[in-house]
Amino acid sequence: MRNLLAITDFSVKEIDELISVALDIEKHPKKYQEKCKHKKLATLFFEPSTRTRLSFESAMLSLGGSVLGFSDANSSSSSKGESLSDTIRVVSCYSDIIAMRHPKEGAPLVASKVSSVPIINAGDGGHNHPTQTLTDLLTIKKEKGRLDNFTIGFCGDLKFGRTVHSLIQALSRYTGIKIVLISPEELKLPDYVKKDVLEKNNMEYVETESLEKAMPELDILYMTRVQQERFFNEQDYLRLRDSYILDVEKLKNAKKDLNILHPLPRVNEISVEVDQDSRACYFKQVENGRLIRMALILKMLEDK
Ligand code: CP
Repeated sequence: MRNLLAITDFSVKEIDELISVALDIEKHPKKYQEKCKHKKLATLFFEPSTRTRLSFESAMLSLGGSVLGFSDANSSSSSKGESLSDTIRVVSCYSDIIAMRHPKEGAPLVASKVSSVPIINAGDGGHNHPTQTLTDLLTIKKEKGRLDNFTIGFCGDLKFGRTVHSLIQALSRYTGIKIVLISPEELKLPDYVKKDVLEKNNMEYVETESLEKAMPELDILYMTRVQQERFFNEQDYLRLRDSYILDVEKLKNAKKDLNILHPLPRVNEISVEVDQDSRACYFKQVENGRLIRMALILKMLEDK
Protein backbone atom coordinates (compact mmCIF):
# COMPACT_ATOMS: atom_id res chain seq x y z
CA MET A 1 0.00 0.00 0.00
CA ARG A 2 1.36 3.41 -1.00
CA ASN A 3 1.19 6.65 0.98
CA LEU A 4 2.09 10.13 -0.26
CA LEU A 5 3.80 11.87 2.65
CA ALA A 6 6.52 13.73 0.71
CA ILE A 7 6.90 14.33 -3.02
CA THR A 8 9.95 12.04 -3.09
CA ASP A 9 7.68 9.09 -2.25
CA PHE A 10 7.01 9.07 -6.00
CA SER A 11 9.73 8.61 -8.62
CA VAL A 12 10.18 11.09 -11.47
CA LYS A 13 8.71 8.44 -13.79
CA GLU A 14 5.61 8.10 -11.62
CA ILE A 15 5.18 11.89 -11.55
CA ASP A 16 5.48 11.97 -15.35
CA GLU A 17 2.75 9.31 -15.52
CA LEU A 18 0.49 11.29 -13.17
CA ILE A 19 0.94 14.38 -15.35
CA SER A 20 0.07 12.35 -18.47
CA VAL A 21 -3.08 10.99 -16.82
CA ALA A 22 -4.08 14.49 -15.63
CA LEU A 23 -3.70 15.81 -19.19
CA ASP A 24 -5.78 12.91 -20.52
CA ILE A 25 -8.49 13.58 -17.89
CA GLU A 26 -8.59 17.19 -19.06
CA LYS A 27 -9.15 16.06 -22.66
CA HIS A 28 -11.50 13.13 -21.98
CA PRO A 29 -13.25 13.70 -18.63
CA LYS A 30 -16.14 11.33 -19.46
CA LYS A 31 -13.75 8.39 -19.73
CA TYR A 32 -12.99 8.77 -16.02
CA GLN A 33 -16.39 9.62 -14.57
CA GLU A 34 -17.09 6.17 -13.09
CA LYS A 35 -13.54 5.02 -12.35
CA CYS A 36 -14.01 5.32 -8.58
CA LYS A 37 -17.62 4.21 -8.31
CA HIS A 38 -18.29 2.77 -4.81
CA LYS A 39 -15.00 4.17 -3.50
CA LYS A 40 -14.87 6.66 -0.63
CA LEU A 41 -12.37 9.44 0.03
CA ALA A 42 -12.11 10.84 3.58
CA THR A 43 -10.83 14.40 3.89
CA LEU A 44 -9.63 15.08 7.45
CA PHE A 45 -8.66 18.73 7.78
CA PHE A 46 -7.32 19.74 11.19
CA GLU A 47 -6.31 23.08 9.62
CA PRO A 48 -8.28 25.45 7.36
CA SER A 49 -8.29 24.94 3.59
CA THR A 50 -10.27 25.99 0.55
CA ARG A 51 -8.40 24.64 -2.49
CA THR A 52 -6.85 21.44 -1.24
CA ARG A 53 -9.91 20.02 0.52
CA LEU A 54 -12.44 21.09 -2.08
CA SER A 55 -10.27 20.06 -5.03
CA PHE A 56 -9.81 16.62 -3.47
CA GLU A 57 -13.56 16.34 -2.95
CA SER A 58 -14.33 17.64 -6.44
CA ALA A 59 -11.74 15.21 -7.86
CA MET A 60 -13.32 12.19 -6.14
CA LEU A 61 -16.85 13.24 -7.16
CA SER A 62 -15.66 13.70 -10.77
CA LEU A 63 -14.41 10.10 -10.64
CA GLY A 64 -17.82 8.84 -9.52
CA GLY A 65 -16.77 8.23 -5.91
CA SER A 66 -18.05 9.62 -2.62
CA VAL A 67 -16.54 11.83 0.05
CA LEU A 68 -16.81 12.11 3.81
CA GLY A 69 -14.82 13.88 6.50
CA PHE A 70 -14.49 17.10 8.43
CA SER A 71 -13.12 20.56 7.69
CA ASP A 72 -12.77 21.65 11.30
CA ALA A 73 -11.12 19.56 14.00
CA ASN A 74 -13.50 21.11 16.54
CA SER A 75 -16.36 19.20 14.96
CA SER A 76 -14.48 15.90 15.40
CA SER A 77 -13.77 13.89 18.55
CA SER A 78 -10.17 15.15 18.54
CA SER A 79 -11.71 18.14 20.37
CA LYS A 80 -12.61 15.67 23.15
CA GLY A 81 -9.02 14.49 23.35
CA GLU A 82 -9.03 11.58 20.89
CA SER A 83 -5.54 10.87 19.58
CA LEU A 84 -4.70 11.26 15.90
CA SER A 85 -3.85 7.54 15.74
CA ASP A 86 -7.27 6.54 17.06
CA THR A 87 -9.03 8.95 14.67
CA ILE A 88 -7.16 7.45 11.71
CA ARG A 89 -7.84 3.85 12.78
CA VAL A 90 -11.53 4.68 12.92
CA VAL A 91 -11.74 6.63 9.65
CA SER A 92 -9.78 3.96 7.76
CA CYS A 93 -12.71 1.61 8.56
CA TYR A 94 -15.06 4.00 6.77
CA SER A 95 -13.04 4.95 3.68
CA ASP A 96 -10.76 3.65 0.92
CA ILE A 97 -8.28 6.53 1.00
CA ILE A 98 -7.58 9.47 3.33
CA ALA A 99 -6.34 12.99 2.52
CA MET A 100 -5.37 14.80 5.70
CA ARG A 101 -4.04 18.21 6.73
CA HIS A 102 -2.59 18.83 10.16
CA PRO A 103 -0.74 21.73 11.83
CA LYS A 104 1.93 19.36 13.24
CA GLU A 105 4.87 18.36 11.07
CA GLY A 106 4.99 14.57 10.75
CA ALA A 107 1.32 13.97 11.61
CA PRO A 108 0.66 12.19 8.25
CA LEU A 109 3.62 9.87 8.98
CA VAL A 110 2.06 8.98 12.35
CA ALA A 111 -1.26 8.39 10.56
CA SER A 112 0.36 6.14 7.96
CA LYS A 113 1.64 3.80 10.71
CA VAL A 114 -1.87 2.91 11.87
CA SER A 115 -3.99 3.36 8.75
CA SER A 116 -5.33 0.42 6.79
CA VAL A 117 -5.88 2.67 3.74
CA PRO A 118 -3.48 5.00 1.85
CA ILE A 119 -2.69 8.36 3.48
CA ILE A 120 -2.16 11.50 1.41
CA ASN A 121 -0.43 14.42 3.12
CA ALA A 122 -2.51 17.50 2.27
CA GLY A 123 -0.11 19.76 4.20
CA ASP A 124 1.64 19.23 7.55
CA GLY A 125 2.65 22.41 9.35
CA GLY A 126 5.59 24.19 7.75
CA HIS A 127 6.95 20.89 6.43
CA ASN A 128 5.53 19.45 3.19
CA HIS A 129 2.63 19.84 0.79
CA PRO A 130 3.25 17.22 -1.92
CA THR A 131 -0.10 17.52 -3.72
CA GLN A 132 0.44 21.26 -4.17
CA THR A 133 3.78 20.31 -5.71
CA LEU A 134 2.08 17.95 -8.15
CA THR A 135 -0.22 20.87 -9.02
CA ASP A 136 2.77 23.17 -9.53
CA LEU A 137 4.61 20.61 -11.68
CA LEU A 138 1.56 20.08 -13.90
CA THR A 139 1.23 23.86 -14.27
CA ILE A 140 4.90 24.31 -15.19
CA LYS A 141 4.70 21.41 -17.66
CA LYS A 142 1.63 22.93 -19.34
CA GLU A 143 3.03 26.47 -19.42
CA LYS A 144 6.68 25.79 -20.28
CA GLY A 145 6.36 22.40 -21.96
CA ARG A 146 9.19 21.04 -19.80
CA LEU A 147 10.28 20.45 -16.21
CA ASP A 148 13.97 21.22 -16.68
CA ASN A 149 16.28 24.06 -17.70
CA PHE A 150 14.74 27.12 -16.12
CA THR A 151 15.41 29.70 -13.41
CA ILE A 152 12.77 29.85 -10.70
CA GLY A 153 12.50 32.51 -8.00
CA PHE A 154 10.78 31.67 -4.71
CA CYS A 155 9.64 34.86 -3.01
CA GLY A 156 8.24 35.59 0.45
CA ASP A 157 7.99 33.21 3.39
CA LEU A 158 10.54 30.55 2.54
CA LYS A 159 10.94 29.53 6.19
CA PHE A 160 7.45 28.21 6.88
CA GLY A 161 6.34 27.79 3.26
CA ARG A 162 5.68 24.07 2.94
CA THR A 163 4.79 24.45 -0.74
CA VAL A 164 8.26 25.90 -1.33
CA HIS A 165 10.02 23.08 0.54
CA SER A 166 8.13 20.40 -1.39
CA LEU A 167 8.61 22.01 -4.80
CA ILE A 168 12.35 22.45 -4.22
CA GLN A 169 12.55 18.75 -3.30
CA ALA A 170 10.76 17.87 -6.52
CA LEU A 171 12.92 20.14 -8.71
CA SER A 172 16.13 18.67 -7.26
CA ARG A 173 15.52 15.64 -9.47
CA TYR A 174 15.43 17.59 -12.75
CA THR A 175 18.41 19.08 -14.59
CA GLY A 176 19.36 22.66 -15.39
CA ILE A 177 17.28 24.26 -12.63
CA LYS A 178 18.59 27.45 -11.00
CA ILE A 179 16.87 28.56 -7.78
CA VAL A 180 16.71 32.18 -6.63
CA LEU A 181 15.61 32.48 -2.98
CA ILE A 182 14.05 35.90 -2.35
CA SER A 183 13.11 36.61 1.27
CA PRO A 184 13.79 38.82 4.27
CA GLU A 185 16.52 37.54 6.60
CA GLU A 186 13.95 36.24 9.13
CA LEU A 187 12.08 34.15 6.55
CA LYS A 188 15.01 32.50 4.75
CA LEU A 189 14.83 28.91 3.57
CA PRO A 190 15.63 26.58 6.53
CA ASP A 191 19.18 25.22 6.69
CA TYR A 192 17.93 21.64 6.55
CA VAL A 193 16.36 22.24 3.11
CA LYS A 194 19.50 23.99 1.89
CA LYS A 195 21.84 21.23 3.12
CA ASP A 196 19.71 18.13 2.53
CA VAL A 197 18.18 19.15 -0.79
CA LEU A 198 19.96 22.02 -2.56
CA GLU A 199 23.56 21.26 -1.56
CA LYS A 200 23.23 17.48 -1.51
CA ASN A 201 21.98 17.56 -5.11
CA ASN A 202 24.50 20.20 -6.24
CA MET A 203 21.70 22.57 -7.21
CA GLU A 204 22.62 26.07 -8.30
CA TYR A 205 21.06 28.64 -5.94
CA VAL A 206 21.45 32.22 -4.75
CA GLU A 207 19.82 34.16 -1.91
CA THR A 208 18.73 37.77 -2.13
CA GLU A 209 16.36 40.19 -0.43
CA SER A 210 15.59 42.06 -3.65
CA LEU A 211 12.72 40.93 -5.89
CA GLU A 212 13.47 43.83 -8.27
CA LYS A 213 17.08 42.72 -8.83
CA ALA A 214 16.15 39.07 -9.29
CA MET A 215 13.22 39.68 -11.63
CA PRO A 216 14.96 40.01 -15.07
CA GLU A 217 16.54 36.53 -14.95
CA LEU A 218 13.45 34.59 -13.82
CA ASP A 219 11.53 32.16 -16.03
CA ILE A 220 9.14 31.37 -13.18
CA LEU A 221 8.26 33.47 -10.14
CA TYR A 222 6.71 31.51 -7.26
CA MET A 223 5.13 34.01 -4.86
CA THR A 224 4.10 32.97 -1.34
CA ARG A 225 2.04 34.42 1.50
CA VAL A 226 3.63 35.40 4.81
CA GLN A 227 1.67 33.00 7.00
CA GLN A 228 0.24 34.65 10.08
CA GLU A 229 -0.68 31.28 11.60
CA ARG A 230 2.99 30.19 11.83
CA PHE A 231 4.18 33.23 13.81
CA PHE A 232 4.49 33.18 17.60
CA ASN A 233 4.75 36.94 17.76
CA GLU A 234 2.12 39.23 16.16
CA GLN A 235 4.61 42.12 15.93
CA ASP A 236 6.98 40.05 13.78
CA TYR A 237 4.12 39.12 11.46
CA LEU A 238 2.99 42.75 11.08
CA ARG A 239 6.55 43.85 10.33
CA LEU A 240 7.16 41.17 7.70
CA ARG A 241 3.77 40.62 6.06
CA ASP A 242 4.19 43.21 3.30
CA SER A 243 7.85 42.51 2.56
CA TYR A 244 7.01 41.84 -1.09
CA ILE A 245 4.07 43.08 -3.12
CA LEU A 246 4.13 42.09 -6.77
CA ASP A 247 2.55 44.80 -8.91
CA VAL A 248 2.50 45.87 -12.56
CA GLU A 249 5.47 48.20 -12.05
CA LYS A 250 7.72 45.41 -10.78
CA LEU A 251 6.79 43.23 -13.76
CA LYS A 252 8.17 45.80 -16.23
CA ASN A 253 11.62 44.21 -15.88
CA ALA A 254 10.35 40.64 -16.16
CA LYS A 255 10.68 38.28 -19.12
CA LYS A 256 7.80 38.24 -21.58
CA ASP A 257 7.32 34.52 -21.02
CA LEU A 258 7.60 34.62 -17.22
CA ASN A 259 5.07 32.45 -15.41
CA ILE A 260 3.77 33.77 -12.08
CA LEU A 261 2.73 31.00 -9.71
CA HIS A 262 1.23 31.18 -6.22
CA PRO A 263 -0.28 28.27 -4.27
CA LEU A 264 -2.94 30.68 -2.90
CA PRO A 265 -4.53 31.95 -0.73
CA ARG A 266 -2.97 35.36 -1.35
CA VAL A 267 -3.35 38.31 0.97
CA ASN A 268 -1.45 41.39 -0.26
CA GLU A 269 1.58 39.88 -1.95
CA ILE A 270 0.14 39.99 -5.48
CA SER A 271 -1.77 43.09 -6.42
CA VAL A 272 -5.13 42.23 -8.07
CA GLU A 273 -4.19 44.22 -11.19
CA VAL A 274 -1.59 41.52 -11.94
CA ASP A 275 -4.47 39.04 -12.43
CA GLN A 276 -5.07 40.58 -15.88
CA ASP A 277 -1.47 39.91 -16.96
CA SER A 278 -1.24 36.88 -19.26
CA ARG A 279 1.77 35.72 -17.25
CA ALA A 280 -0.36 35.17 -14.13
CA CYS A 281 -0.92 31.42 -13.72
CA TYR A 282 -2.24 31.13 -10.17
CA PHE A 283 -5.87 30.59 -11.08
CA LYS A 284 -4.80 28.06 -13.72
CA GLN A 285 -3.04 26.22 -10.88
CA VAL A 286 -6.39 25.87 -9.11
CA GLU A 287 -7.93 23.87 -11.98
CA ASN A 288 -4.72 21.91 -12.46
CA GLY A 289 -4.94 20.93 -8.78
CA ARG A 290 -8.25 19.18 -9.36
CA LEU A 291 -6.94 17.31 -12.43
CA ILE A 292 -3.75 16.07 -10.81
CA ARG A 293 -5.63 15.02 -7.66
CA MET A 294 -7.97 12.95 -9.86
CA ALA A 295 -4.90 11.25 -11.36
CA LEU A 296 -3.43 10.78 -7.88
CA ILE A 297 -6.56 9.19 -6.39
CA LEU A 298 -6.73 6.78 -9.34
CA LYS A 299 -3.09 5.82 -8.95
CA MET A 300 -3.22 5.32 -5.21
CA LEU A 301 -6.36 3.22 -5.35
CA GLU A 302 -4.84 1.12 -8.17
CA ASP A 303 -1.58 0.64 -6.22
CA LYS A 304 -3.62 -0.35 -3.17
N1 CP B 1 -2.78 25.94 -1.79
C1 CP B 1 -3.44 25.53 -0.70
O1 CP B 1 -3.02 24.63 0.03
O2 CP B 1 -4.62 26.21 -0.45
P1 CP B 1 -5.62 25.90 0.74
O3 CP B 1 -4.90 26.23 2.03
O4 CP B 1 -6.83 26.75 0.49
O5 CP B 1 -5.93 24.43 0.70
